[in-house]
Amino acid sequence: MTTDVMIYAQDLSKHYGSFRALDRVSFEVRRGEVVGFLGPNGAGKSTTMRILTCFISPTGGTARVHGFDVFDDPLPVRESLGYLPQRAPLYLEMNVYEYLRFAADLRHLDGETFKKRARSVVEVCGLAQVLTKDIRQLSHGYRQRVGLAQALIHDPPILILDEPTSDLDPNEKAEFLDYLKQIGKERTVMLSTHNLKEVESACARAIIVSRGRVVADGPLDEIRAKSGNVRYVVSVQESASGSAYRGKTLPASNAEVSDLLSKVAGVRKVTELPTDERAHAFELASEQDADLRPEVFRAVADKGWVLLELHRDTQTLEDVFRHLTIGDERRNRTIGASPDGEEEEASEEEEESAEDTDSDDDDSDEEGDEAKS
Ligand SMILES: Nc1ncnc2c1ncn2[C@@H]1O[C@H](COP(=O)(O)OP(=O)(O)O)[C@@H](O)[C@H]1O
Ligand SMILES: [Mg+2]
Repeated sequence: MTTDVMIYAQDLSKHYGSFRALDRVSFEVRRGEVVGFLGPNGAGKSTTMRILTCFISPTGGTARVHGFDVFDDPLPVRESLGYLPQRAPLYLEMNVYEYLRFAADLRHLDGETFKKRARSVVEVCGLAQVLTKDIRQLSHGYRQRVGLAQALIHDPPILILDEPTSDLDPNEKAEFLDYLKQIGKERTVMLSTHNLKEVESACARAIIVSRGRVVADGPLDEIRAKSGNVRYVVSVQESASGSAYRGKTLPASNAEVSDLLSKVAGVRKVTELPTDERAHAFELASEQDADLRPEVFRAVADKGWVLLELHRDTQTLEDVFRHLTIGDERRNRTIGASPDGEEEEASEEEEESAEDTDSDDDDSDEEGDEAKS
């Protein structure tokens, strides 16, 4: 492992009794990366993050944060991390400044350091206007920003944020992600979400988990291409009379445009899209990883037509998931279950799940623990 690896997970497993919440999860996050940790509800995102932040212990595997083992060296791990849990425990009766002071006290920051850090986090999280307001008076959006400020108070190099935007309205989401973008310029960030759009706006890379396993890990474009279906949307200016527009020849019919597009190498299917504008719009399907946009552009330009729009269509997370988790959907997460989903006696892994009793105790006061983070 190089020193550049800030978060390292190798074969992390977590069993709750006979249930496999995490199944040999491995990944690395490097210095300065802002990584989206994507997955549907129940995939194992929070479980992974709780292991990385030392709130629960894994049943198996290794995790290191900033080079320190989460198991053997929890103290330096916690010092290196800012953590915003999924349900951030805010003390509603405190005002924002008091809450930040409380968070700083838990981190043993001295008065001078606190003042300096408070100025900085208030600025980067946009809290100046609400500093003396009780947290109970704040909107969800502001509350999450307070949660973010609390995670940053000790100036950690790594931030772990568990679905920080899931309860926010679209404006609040956008604002939160803007703050995060600034913060991510100088820190390593792992952000969990089930919203691909969010990852697209804030992260360059994503790790996708499904049913306790990593099903994809890489740059977003690669992940989208992995789903086997790349779509393009193309629209070309229409002309009723086939006349010229500022010297350009305009196509007379949909068929003419469709014909041309279907001849571009790599295009598998051309589907007409409804459009209100004076345009011919099409969706192109391609199975290739290669980017077809240059060829599409050239084909249209060579005809002298006016290209109004050309983009690789963003696939929804659902599309990507459906493809990445085919078959996995039916995967039984019960230890000892046969692959077709029938449950059996837990056998060879029985010992491992028995060990888990210890960490289940940890979980029972987890809320309290997280409140103290
Ligand atoms: N303390 C627990 N006891 C039993 N099962 C749990 C516990 N915590 C989580 N799980 C289960 O583990 C799976 C993964 O949960 P979680 O990591 O919270 O998923 P996510 O954060 O991706 O929604 C879920 O099926 C959840 O029900
Ligand atoms: Mg969760």
